[in-house]
Amino acid sequence: MTVSSVLLVLLQVCGLHLMVVAMPTCTLEGNMVRSAHHLLRDLGGRFPAHCLPYNTNISFPDSAFPAAKANHIQCRRALRVVYESLQGAEQVFEDHELPVGVGGVTWDDDKFIKFQHLQHRLLENGSCLSSVDGLGVLSSYFSNVTEVLQQDSAACGWMALRRDLLRVLESTLHNQHICFAWRD
Ligand SMILES: *[C@@H]1O[C@H](CO)[C@@H](O)[C@H](O)[C@H]1NC(C)=O
Ligand SMILES: *[C@@H]1O[C@H](CO)[C@@H](O)[C@H](O)[C@H]1NC(C)=O
Ligand SMILES: *[C@@H]1O[C@H](CO)[C@@H](O)[C@H](O)[C@H]1NC(C)=O
Repeated sequence: MTVSSVLLVLLQVCGLHLMVVAMPTCTLEGNMVRSAHHLLRDLGGRFPAHCLPYNTNISFPDSAFPAAKANHIQCRRALRVVYESLQGAEQVFEDHELPVGVGGVTWDDDKFIKFQHLQHRLLENGSCLSSVDGLGVLSSYFSNVTEVLQQDSAACGWMALRRDLLRVLESTLHNQHICFAWRD
């Protein structure tokens, strides 16, 4: 091999390497998702027993979750479920007032606001995960949440939404840990 062909090979290897580094990978920052989970977990109490009857109205479609073992395609699907859950929840937060006072929810304002900031940043940064057909498998879930919010018990609707969102974040952080981007 001549010197120039060695150089050429080297250049190609470096170029490829740069491309891989620069290629935007479509994922979510694990640390941000974990912080969002912790804020949501800590902002209020447990799911109240008097809201249990609404489980027939609001039941998160578990079939949306991929199998526990994550490969590339399943990562995409798992991250999509996270993204669409955050997106649907943001829409609910925008369209409905949090019921406060008697029979309302007593959430820590400060944590809830911080959570919403993180949620917003995650949605912006993960926009490559959004699908053209909107909420997909979650659309019937979110229309049920909205119905309960409007018709039956706003507080129970909010509690159920928080419970399910927590479960989505917890389950993917645990089962699909490798799908997220982690900072040291
Ligand atoms: C969004 O993602 C980019 C690329 O991964 C990253 O550099 C940036 O810090 C992220 N922004 C936020 C607000 O997390
Ligand atoms: C939506 O509500 C209907 C009737 O209340 C129920 O049968 C259905 O399972 C609910 N779907 C989801 C995804 O919560
Ligand atoms: C919740 O489910 C019950 C039992 O299926 C039903 O009677 C009620 O209309 C539902 N409420 C809403 C808001 O869908």
